[in-house]
Amino acid sequence: MGETTETDDNEATDDGDPQSAIDAQGDRRREELDDRVFDHSAGDEQAGIPFVGAGPGDPRLLTVAGRELLEESDLVVHAGSLVNSELLEAYCDHAELVNSVGKDLEELIPLMRDAYEEGRNVVRLHSGDPAIYGAALEQMDALEHEGVPTYFVPGVTSAFAASATLRTQLTLNEVANHVAFTRPQGKTLSAEEDHISDFVEMGDVTTCIYLGTHAVRDTMDRLLEDGHDPETPVGVIYHASWPDEDVIVGSIGDIADRIEEAGYRASALVVIGDAVTGAGYERSYLYGDWANRGSSGSSAENTSEPEASDD
Ligand SMILES: C[S@@+](CC[C@H](N)C(=O)[O-])C[C@H]1O[C@@H](n2cnc3c(N)ncnc32)[C@H](O)[C@@H]1O
Repeated sequence: MGETTETDDNEATDDGDPQSAIDAQGDRRREELDDRVFDHSAGDEQAGIPFVGAGPGDPRLLTVAGRELLEESDLVVHAGSLVNSELLEAYCDHAELVNSVGKDLEELIPLMRDAYEEGRNVVRLHSGDPAIYGAALEQMDALEHEGVPTYFVPGVTSAFAASATLRTQLTLNEVANHVAFTRPQGKTLSAEEDHISDFVEMGDVTTCIYLGTHAVRDTMDRLLEDGHDPETPVGVIYHASWPDEDVIVGSIGDIADRIEEAGYRASALVVIGDAVTGAGYERSYLYGDWANRGSSGSSAENTSEPEASDD
């Protein structure tokens, strides 16, 4: 990958219809949550079109629920180049495949609706997890508005593949207490809505930047202008979990040169913060002072203070 430049892919369509469906669904949701929220758990097979997270790329990082749905599918509408063709070959070779790239809601919604109404098993396959920069809800709302039920099947988001590749945690005791999933300014976000500098300023946040490979230099220049430490670690994980995965680790001061040298303009996750190297953290309470709290013989995982026990 890397041949296309990442731009904003979550723009609402200009056409009135999908937006009015979105508005109508939003109004309903504001009044009352859907009964299905309480009737189903994530992972349940439900009536309707599942919006499945394909995971970061490696077919083995697809969930079992996702794989089963793909194996039973007749039509798979997939998110183009970020869904690994090996995964499509492994689990969907019997199904009709449609690439959603370049198709607007006006084309996608009737395509999925008609197939569903013909009784075909339709799966909408997004990269990573559909709930992260997936523009899934607008498709679901438009389908629901037309009487086609939909639901989410979660996937492994690329930030989690990136942290596994980096052999680190996104949260680390005394180093990173928070994680931000974010994107840089561009067509979708104005300069005021770009909070990357604010997250870095907080100091104990691991900032995971999606849709920002093409903007690494701009982003780093802005961080330097804002006075951030040029030595702050930055990791860029291109195609995490793919056979051509590449990891470039540097700092706010030098990562842009390295990325330009490597030639990546898309398909990478940019991670900023000390968690990138995993250096400097302290042992956690979980296997320290908290371990033997609570009733004797019970494990820390069973104590009534789980918030103190997870790192
Ligand atoms: C439209 S967003 C979709 C994100 C996806 N829903 C997820 O949960 O990972 C696309 C961006 O996700 C990131 N991305 C997706 N798959 C990736 C992978 N395997 N390795 C690195 N970054 C990836 C890149 O930043 C890319 O620009």
